[in-house]
Amino acid sequence: MAFVIHAVTALPTIPQPPSPNPLIPVIAIDGPSGSGKGTIARRVATALGFHLLDSGALYRLVALAGSQQGVAADDQQGHARVARGLEVQFGMDGAGEERVLLAGTDVTRAIRTEAAGAEASRVAAMPPVRTALLSRQHAFAQPPGLVADGRDMGTVVFPGSPLKIYLTASPEERARRRHKQLKDKGLTVTIAGLSQEIRERDLRDSSRPVAPLRPAEDAVILDSTGLTIEQVVDQVLALARSRLPAIS
Ligand code: DC
Repeated sequence: MAFVIHAVTALPTIPQPPSPNPLIPVIAIDGPSGSGKGTIARRVATALGFHLLDSGALYRLVALAGSQQGVAADDQQGHARVARGLEVQFGMDGAGEERVLLAGTDVTRAIRTEAAGAEASRVAAMPPVRTALLSRQHAFAQPPGLVADGRDMGTVVFPGSPLKIYLTASPEERARRRHKQLKDKGLTVTIAGLSQEIRERDLRDSSRPVAPLRPAEDAVILDSTGLTIEQVVDQVLALARSRLPAIS
């Protein structure tokens, strides 16, 4: 399998600045599960030729690596150690499909299950894990720019971002979208079960004391219920053109 590495996120060997380079434009896209952030962020990054940070994948990887390494579910420092040592590569295979490698092993499917999402949500509530992942996330901000997808991109990780989007959709619409996504991947789930999981995850992500899911004060709130992917992408690109001087 041909594998093109787009971003290698092995721990840097030289000290990194504590915050991202303010000259690199970052578009922060936050929102709850199933709001379409991932798809929109990918399309916007492709349209602008920007790098992409799927920060949720990092939390999913920490949870997976933690369980592989036998770290106890409630061991915050243990998970932070795993986060600091994550050996991860994001790339494309020969067929143009996204691939995620953890210590050289393809975990693309393993990190996308609902169970992996629930585990990720649990480790994401651990403050030392969030701190451990901060400089790793900052390292994605490279020229010509970055689209960062997550829960706290605009509030914590890239607070200086010139364009912050908070993308949302009704819980019913989000469950329907997620159902289709998982069905297309050959996974069997029910809409009712998904709705329940989405509500539980939203509650956990928005009620945790550290970096809770919430819109940044200067975020543009975009409700994608009833909109097509293209309509949302067009709105984000129009905002990018008006807010980011380097984009025409
Ligand atoms: O976006 P996702 O579903 O892949 O994220 C998985 C979990 O990780 C989600 O429940 C919340 C958490 N997360 C977070 O706390 N902060 C982020 N920036 C991204 C994800």
